Amino acid sequence: MKFLLLKTILPVFITIAVSLSATKPTFAGDPAIGKMIWDEQPCKTCHGVEGIPIFPGVPSFIRGDRMDKADGILLVSIMNGTAFMPPFKGIISNSDGLDLIAFVRTLQK
Ligand code: HEC
Repeated sequence: MKFLLLKTILPVFITIAVSLSATKPTFAGDPAIGKMIWDEQPCKTCHGVEGIPIFPGVPSFIRGDRMDKADGILLVSIMNGTAFMPPFKGIISNSDGLDLIAFVRTLQK
């Protein structure tokens, strides 16, 4: 029985685990790299080190403002800028932007 378990059930389990991890979106950023970029870039002069906004009108990342938006939408805002946020296109790459978004999502308390 023990042999059967290892020979039959374990490979099935591994196959399921591998296919589940493969369904994770491959474009998602890395929050650890995002933190390093956050420390280098001026984001925190408006958004605050921990996501507590410095100025009125800046979304509060600690409260999770804007975090209902998809990564792609947030990336466009960061790269092209908004009425009040400068564009970061040419300063950071799209991949840096996605890493930043992954990090910003971890600020929510
Ligand atoms: C000069 C101040 C300022 C700087 C610097 C700044 N932001 Fe912003 N950011 C804002 C403001 C203000 C908004 C809200 C804009 C709006 O609602 O139009 C915003 C919005 C955002 C949003 C939400 C966008 C959306 O679609 O709702 C994200 C994500 C974001 N900033 C990330 C960043 C990151 C990452 C950096 C650094 C690379 C950065 N910001 C630098 C002021 C700033």
